[in-house]
Amino acid sequence: MNRLVKGVALGAGILGLAVGYLVLRAPHRAAPREIRVASSPEILDRGKFLYEVVADCDGCHGDRNWDQQLAPVRRSGAGFRFPAEMGLPGTVVASNITSDPVAGIGAWSDGEKLRAIREGIGRDGRTLFPMMPYESYRHMSDRDAEALVAYLNTLPPAKDQRQRTAIDFPVSVLMKSAPAPVEGTVSELADRGEYLVKMGGCADCHTPKERGAPVEGKEFAGGEVFRFGKFTVVAANITPDVETGIGRMTEAAFVRRFQEYREYAQAPLPEATRKNFTVMPWLAFSRYSAEELGAIYRYLRHQKAVANQVTVHPES
Ligand code: HEC
Ligand code: HEC
Repeated sequence: MNRLVKGVALGAGILGLAVGYLVLRAPHRAAPREIRVASSPEILDRGKFLYEVVADCDGCHGDRNWDQQLAPVRRSGAGFRFPAEMGLPGTVVASNITSDPVAGIGAWSDGEKLRAIREGIGRDGRTLFPMMPYESYRHMSDRDAEALVAYLNTLPPAKDQRQRTAIDFPVSVLMKSAPAPVEGTVSELADRGEYLVKMGGCADCHTPKERGAPVEGKEFAGGEVFRFGKFTVVAANITPDVETGIGRMTEAAFVRRFQEYREYAQAPLPEATRKNFTVMPWLAFSRYSAEELGAIYRYLRHQKAVANQVTVHPES
């Protein structure tokens, strides 16, 4: 064998070993914390606000009426299977996370729930598909995470049994590097806007991706395409770019853009059409105060401006 062939053979051998190692390797995980979360009316209010607004858990886990614009939630936490046309790497099901002990997570300990939410590990030690935003939720403060679990414990049981998430190779293997234990105490980030943007998954939808990974230098620049049934919507550019982003939007206009959905939601929502269909959680985020939306606005205005013209409804 000449040196080149030897080198290639060695390289392939190492690659094979590396893949073998990854397949067999367990994710980085720690035992769940031994904790019973405290509960009080104030804690449950905070947990509910985190669940319904800040983290919009029902955006994925809710049973929602997709025939109506903004897809209002019918039953909290009952679970949802993402449609095949989204092009995800396998079957992806946002689990039933209600208090039902069989179909939901009612039999889990509080520590197991905290670990799933912030560290990405299922009850049986498996890696959760990182579309479940645990890589962001690891920054959720202890106080908030515990209030969230206290609220989850009160979600009315839903009996829906859905298929489990089953991710295709090689993503099934690569994703094992996503979970990580949360160490020490976690407090809320000093910048409230940054915290809300992280918890709200703004970047997950508004930053374009290539092969599942966010494109560097294009944070919040929009362009991600969402296909749902017969509808398509594209995430807007929310960078401070003047021509193609939110550079011309004043703070007051930004706040109004969200809060106008409060009144809108009072009347029956119209049928979803090609023109109005969206996955932007307007109903959830419309419940933020002007101060909270102002903090989000200021955080976004401090990000890099990226010129990227987006047509939100390309087919209408
Ligand atoms: C962007 C979509 C999305 C959002 C938002 C989201 N989840 Fe998930 N979640 C998922 C998916 C998908 C799974 C299934 C992952 C898997 O099985 O590999 C999941 C799994 C879970 C699990 C594990 C359940 C099980 O049976 O293994 C828990 C607990 C959970 N989510 C709680 C939450 C909570 C609480 C929130 C809000 C703070 C939340 N999720 C927000 C998509 C989401
Ligand atoms: C599930 C995906 C998703 C998430 C999460 C999401 N967005 Fe959006 N957003 C969209 C889509 C799609 C649009 C374009 C359609 C529309 O306007 O409804 C949009 C539109 C917007 C617009 C309107 C821009 C304009 O010029 O009219 C703003 C502002 C915005 N999002 C801010 C945010 C912020 C802030 C967050 C996080 C707190 C966030 N979004 C989270 C999908 C998402």
